Amino acid sequence: MKGLILSGGKGTRLYPLTYTRAKQLIPVANKPVLVRVIEAIRQAGVREVGIVVGHTAPEIAEALGDGSQWDVKLSYIPQHSPDGLAHAVKISRDFLGDSPFVMFLGDNVIEGGISSLIRDFADNSWNSQIVLKEVENPSAYGVAKMRTDGSIEELIEKPKSPPSNLALVGIYMFDQHIFEAVDAIAPSARGEYEITDAIQWLIDKGYTVFPHVHDGWWIDTGKPTDMLDANSHVLEELTPRVDETALIDEHSSVDSRVTLQAGARISNSIIRGPTIIGKDTLIENSYVGPFTSIYHGCKVRNCEIERSIILENSRVMDIDRTLRDSLIGRNATVKRSSGRPQGLKMNLGDYGTLWV
Ligand code: TTP
Repeated sequence: MKGLILSGGKGTRLYPLTYTRAKQLIPVANKPVLVRVIEAIRQAGVREVGIVVGHTAPEIAEALGDGSQWDVKLSYIPQHSPDGLAHAVKISRDFLGDSPFVMFLGDNVIEGGISSLIRDFADNSWNSQIVLKEVENPSAYGVAKMRTDGSIEELIEKPKSPPSNLALVGIYMFDQHIFEAVDAIAPSARGEYEITDAIQWLIDKGYTVFPHVHDGWWIDTGKPTDMLDANSHVLEELTPRVDETALIDEHSSVDSRVTLQAGARISNSIIRGPTIIGKDTLIENSYVGPFTSIYHGCKVRNCEIERSIILENSRVMDIDRTLRDSLIGRNATVKRSSGRPQGLKMNLGDYGTLWV
């Protein structure tokens, strides 16, 4: 069994953060989503992992190296343009050979890992297995129609009258027949080689495709609100830990659901969990509320923050309103200006949004 992680793509829905960085490297509870994916695959017993990369390849390679840190052997597979998930499979043929494989979208976060899925596929002789999840609004997703024997008969993209409430999650298992499918299909109306078309091709040719229904949470971190949701879920599950080098002064209150990483300093502040404060980050005269992840090297002074993600080396200071539901990039500064004239001043990146 091999693993294939898709980490190319454009990431347009997460602009401006993904202008300069791979969306899969944005941390959720202070750990990049892509690292969570690698850990899930390794935990399921898979060690040989290919990672499809696009224009952010150098940054991804720098973050992951050869994978030995997670006890996996990583191979990088360059995709010159983001031509779709089925295209990513097609270009990975040399790496995958005839081995069955699990394909995982590098921006998805799933509760409880994928070990049971991998066992399920290994115990059966199906050609493909796809992960489905019950959703409230199936019309917004790719939806599966089942046969009475439990196998999948049809996949329908964003159906007006959905045949079920089971939507496709970004995790799939395939055997080598998927290569026939990705060679046979044509690009869709949006110009991409769609994995749903390749799976439908398998079904139409009589190959067996079965579902694996996932009953925990699953989040595709495509948009900022998804990032915040994933962050809340993962923080909720995190076993809190205060590093021995973290410092909390006597005027501060830090509850039992807070994680403090090495060198974090809390001074005259209240921190409510679940929350994580990164390495060498300083929180001073502030309140940091539940479901917040503040990454490494940040400084937070004289402000209140709730349910937010702040990336490395950013500064948030002297803000007299609570900062809530916010996603702040790297090396950013959010600061009250003391001089006159007063009013909002900003150096906001392309595609950035500011609510005042
Ligand atoms: P998507 O979120 O569907 O696409 P995207 O990353 O281009 O984002 P956006 O829609 O915001 O522009 O991609 C799902 C995952 O698959 C993501 O980790 C990127 C990866 N991917 C590839 O590796 N190759 C591709 O050709 C495509 C389309 C996506």
